Amino acid sequence: MSKSFELPKDFLLGSATAATQIEGGDIYNNWYAWSLIGKVGNGESSITGADHYRRYAEDIELLSQLHQECYRMSIEWSRIEPKQGEWSKEGVEHYRDEFQRLIKAGIKPLVTLHHFSCPQWFQEKGGWLSENAVEDFIRFVDFSVKSFGDLVSEWCTINEPNVFANDSYMDGKYPPGSHGDIAAYMKVTKRLVIAHLKSYKLIHKIRKEHGFAGETKVGFAHHLAIFEPFDSHPLAKLGRFLSDYLFHEIHMKGFVEGKLCFPLGFGYPEGKGIFCDFIGINYYSRHLFKASYNPGNLFATPMVDPSISDSEKNDLGWEIYPEGLYKVCHRAWDKYKLPIYITENGIPDAKDEKREKYIVDHLYQIKLLLDEGVKVERYYHWSFLDNLEWNDGYGPRFGLVEVDYTTMKRKPRLSALRYAEICRTKRIENRST
Ligand code: GAL
Repeated sequence: MSKSFELPKDFLLGSATAATQIEGGDIYNNWYAWSLIGKVGNGESSITGADHYRRYAEDIELLSQLHQECYRMSIEWSRIEPKQGEWSKEGVEHYRDEFQRLIKAGIKPLVTLHHFSCPQWFQEKGGWLSENAVEDFIRFVDFSVKSFGDLVSEWCTINEPNVFANDSYMDGKYPPGSHGDIAAYMKVTKRLVIAHLKSYKLIHKIRKEHGFAGETKVGFAHHLAIFEPFDSHPLAKLGRFLSDYLFHEIHMKGFVEGKLCFPLGFGYPEGKGIFCDFIGINYYSRHLFKASYNPGNLFATPMVDPSISDSEKNDLGWEIYPEGLYKVCHRAWDKYKLPIYITENGIPDAKDEKREKYIVDHLYQIKLLLDEGVKVERYYHWSFLDNLEWNDGYGPRFGLVEVDYTTMKRKPRLSALRYAEICRTKRIENRST
């Protein structure tokens, strides 16, 4: 049976990227240093990117041709402050031009301030473990909002604080590459919470004081996955609970409510309140937790459901589970009743065989949520362009638009053309499942 459905006309559809993954050409960020010591997949380097830093005008035209209404991007801190305390005029002019072009094309920018990367000088001081980390970041936020706040009213402070701290200090995948350092995970998480709370207040204050037009909206992008116990083993249930608490919950409480929960600390470091104008949700997949007697694993090991077929997995082997989007949004809505932006949702699919269905199936979950009064307001597909998938290098193809890395030529995939029609009409015809 085929089904059609519509999304409200004021529901905005677009796509997302992050500077380090697409820009190329920056030698001052920590991922370039990470590439130089061979930590990016296949010895690849962030210096290449998709050459977006030079091709941004062409890319904005493409965004426009694809009827993207909103665009989530990040600014590279090291392009703005390549050396500590030295602010780059060139970096500011570049991003101002990028924002102006987006606005002129009728595309609303949502700007992320911290998307996994930082300047190498900040990394060398100890990154988020250094005593002045929050102070350094806030100086960058202050400078950025003063430099771009007349053009940008919507800000995402920190992308996926949970993935960032986990992959940097527990799994050794991101710089500085530590393994199993739970103390660092907690310390950094606490600092990210505080950095967000301070940024939230600061961005509102600066935009108000300068009389910048447009409603200021500040939030963060939380990575929320579906965690379920593999079976009824008590350790599977315990492990699922602990991982959910430490990977999802303490961040929600911190970033949204301003509350430090055990084991991060106690109380409200920046006062009581609500510190998000929207909750950004990055949703990709589901993990099952299998009992483990290793406390270092929090008593359960995450795994992909062994019973599912390849057709239900993406190119990286992650389960495709659209219903999970419904569940994570409902959970956030039931608790906070704040507007939700899907700040990321996408699929590595080099052959472009699954992407269109993936998009439609996830949008359908949004339609179900909207029917129940859950205020989901935006959908940013990850990603606009093929890009550097951090440690996995350039292999995984997340782009609506294919990038030929030898010529840097762009080619919208068939799914991108279909998605463009959905963005234009807000109508989805013939959903096949
Ligand atoms: C997110 C991240 C993105 C992108 C995506 C696909 O965790 O924010 O930068 O890499 O996953 O894996």
